[in-house]
Amino acid sequence: MTQQQSDITPDSVGRAYDLFTDLGATTALGGNLHVGYWDDGDDAPIAEATDRLTDLVAERLALRPDQRLLDVGCGNGVPALRIAGAHGVRVTGITVSAQQVAQASERADGSDAGGRTSFLFADAMDLPFDDGSFDGAWAVESLVHMADQSAALAEIHRVVRPGGRLVIADLCRRQPFTGDDRAVLDGMMRMYQLAGINTPDEHRARLTEAGWQLLELTDIGERIRASYGQGSAAFRSIAASLDASAAEQLTAAADLMEAFGKHPHTGYVLITARRI
Ligand SMILES: C[S@@+](CC[C@H](N)C(=O)[O-])C[C@H]1O[C@@H](n2cnc3c(N)ncnc32)[C@H](O)[C@@H]1O
Repeated sequence: MTQQQSDITPDSVGRAYDLFTDLGATTALGGNLHVGYWDDGDDAPIAEATDRLTDLVAERLALRPDQRLLDVGCGNGVPALRIAGAHGVRVTGITVSAQQVAQASERADGSDAGGRTSFLFADAMDLPFDDGSFDGAWAVESLVHMADQSAALAEIHRVVRPGGRLVIADLCRRQPFTGDDRAVLDGMMRMYQLAGINTPDEHRARLTEAGWQLLELTDIGERIRASYGQGSAAFRSIAASLDASAAEQLTAAADLMEAFGKHPHTGYVLITARRI
């Protein structure tokens, strides 16, 4: 069963991202708000490793110039601008954080690819777009925040044209967290506003139910694991420059991230699906 955290809403998620932005914590992962990817023996800096994850997503989208893409949960716009710039596609990014819409739009203004991107406040579980408006979509670490992931997958299915791709990169849970470990998982979910962490099989089942054909699902958890240690270290160093109460909050977030990241049941899936 998906490990669920109740009371998580788009509002509460948006507020959490606004707060993390205010604390300056959104730079912890080198600019992107997602994990990095490392090969064996690779010591690439976090900024490069997180861009590499974006590139793995882009490769799986089978992009062609001028296609229209939806970035579901676009964060601060870094991945959308990178993909629009490298592939000549047009990207609409949505987020439930007003701060992120402002940050992403400002970043687009200063970027060569900015004219091919737009960022708006919208909930993936209730998308404000017409049927078949996009050639494809991606969702990096955003579904995990949604109380009704099936509704979001059905909505993305509705707005992507037949044959279009959806690429998902997200947390997964390899085994149930039990005993003392359950407190780590619950704390992590509360702190980071995670509504539900699926097993790989649950990811498969939800996609199929929403009308997607699964092309690939790989657990790349060991390739991204270093992100948790590096992210938590960055949080602690940011905390050192904050006032006592903000520092306490960010240090608690760092402790949970580190414990969760070390846990062998913590995995991470990279999924490619096709709209049928
Ligand atoms: C961990 S960040 C990832 C950001 C970005 N995908 C990246 O890779 O840098 C999660 C993002 O999902 C967005 N999100 C969470 N729930 C959402 C929802 N219901 N609708 C739209 N976006 C949502 C958050 O606002 C945030 O931008």
